[in-house]
Amino acid sequence: LWLALGIRRRQPGEPPVENGLIPYLGCALQFGANPLEFLRSRQKKYGHIFTCKIAGQYVHFLCDPFSYHSVIRQGRHLDWKKFHFAASVKAFGHDSMDPSHGHTTENLHQTFLKTLQGEALPSLIENMMENLQNILLHSDTLPACPGEWEVDGIFAFCYKVMFESGYLTLWGNDLNAQEDQSLARQEAQKALVLNALENFKEFDKIFPALVAGLPIHVFKSGHSARENLAKTMTAEKLSKRTNMSDLISLRMVLNDTLSTFDDLSKARTHVALLWASQANTLPATFWTLFYLIRSTEALKAAADEVKNVLESSGQRPDPKGPHLTLSREQLDNFPVLDSIIKEAMRLSSASLNVRVAKQNFLLHLDNKESYHIRKDDVIALYPQMLHFDPEIYEDPLTYKYDRYLDENGQEKTTFYREGRKLRYFYMPFGSGVTKCPGRFFAVHEIKQFLFLLLAHFEMELLDPQVKVPPLDQSRAGLGILQPTYDVDFRFRLRAL
Ligand code: HEM
Repeated sequence: LWLALGIRRRQPGEPPVENGLIPYLGCALQFGANPLEFLRSRQKKYGHIFTCKIAGQYVHFLCDPFSYHSVIRQGRHLDWKKFHFAASVKAFGHDSMDPSHGHTTENLHQTFLKTLQGEALPSLIENMMENLQNILLHSDTLPACPGEWEVDGIFAFCYKVMFESGYLTLWGNDLNAQEDQSLARQEAQKALVLNALENFKEFDKIFPALVAGLPIHVFKSGHSARENLAKTMTAEKLSKRTNMSDLISLRMVLNDTLSTFDDLSKARTHVALLWASQANTLPATFWTLFYLIRSTEALKAAADEVKNVLESSGQRPDPKGPHLTLSREQLDNFPVLDSIIKEAMRLSSASLNVRVAKQNFLLHLDNKESYHIRKDDVIALYPQMLHFDPEIYEDPLTYKYDRYLDENGQEKTTFYREGRKLRYFYMPFGSGVTKCPGRFFAVHEIKQFLFLLLAHFEMELLDPQVKVPPLDQSRAGLGILQPTYDVDFRFRLRAL
């Protein structure tokens, strides 16, 4: 009967198991409603490792941060690709990118490392800085009269500015707009990018449902938004762009030389990258700016840091003057902005790190306990438990801009739990082999955005007493959560 109902009975040496009340779905609904609450209550009941049935899969949740390293160390028993490749196919509709399925021999992991890190970073950063200034200091963004306040939603503002800059940095410029610098051409290029943003947002809304396995045809507008994006990213359309990043130009070559994908599938692999490069960065930028403006202390510390860098490099912000520049060394030396970005991401990140067991094996934990894991079971880490643990972060729900600064005002890297130093205390970018390959670029671009805003603008909340908007839990597990509503702010150019 147990077998017929698809219910697992705990075998000796296995973690405690909860099958949930609903066949197949198991605990999926309770988990989905509020993962943090669900996991905390199970941790209280069962201890630091337990198994839950979620949508037909048995998932072992590991809640002891000292054991995170065990999972990473025993990686040879675990497959991280299976889950990622399958999720990408479900969401974006391209042919499988798993080389074992025979459609491509590209090693995507290598492609990402080669084009997003190391030698590839400086040109990404340089182009981003240029694009950000073109957009931020464009007459569309600036208040109509100097000295006058302009009002906007923080979310709307961050999405517009960061999406356009990030898009142009990775996908380059429209060749025609590059050659013909007339206002009409520039406006036409802007309209196309903002149209892509609308499609991106529409598609992003249904992303959690697609990853959960619902077919895209159920969602009319989300489906057409994804297809509209793909149409703008066919090889023919991309060939009319210039100053493209290494990431996209290399991926185009590898799509053409190593895969059997048709044109549409190729375009959809680019849509997948558009999503990866924007879906977390945009809400992360919102939270960073929101918390920064809301805290007088943070705003002052950040403005001082920016002022010092400007002075020491002999630059003067003038919207009509030459663009500001920041070398990579300068960008790496912003401890206050770094802490501000980290603290905002600690409070808003809710990613789930998953691996699939390749075979039956014995998982050794930090406390010397071992557990039998069955082939095809999932092992999951939910770092929000770590980020909101009051033993690690005192008063975890409170924003403290300097949490990641030590007594000398430099990066703080020592965090403790039960008197022991933690190796893992901050994980919005995942862990081990699946750690986000774009993380260096992501932090740099948010920092550049803050630097430019602080250099050129005064900013304040329309309502200084405004409450922190709740996190939209429907996206829990997928990365940085969005706010459930936008918050207005006003900004004006600083007097020269
Ligand atoms: C994957 C977070 C920005 C490119 C991931 C993963 C996380 C993540 C959690 C999955 C790791 C896992 O499954 O364990 C973030 C956050 C960002 C950000 C919080 C911004 C604040 C970016 C940017 C890019 C990027 C700007 C590219 C320009 C990617 C790619 C993957 C990925 C390509 C898939 C890697 C693979 O499957 O091998 N990111 N990311 N990310 N991210 Fe990011």
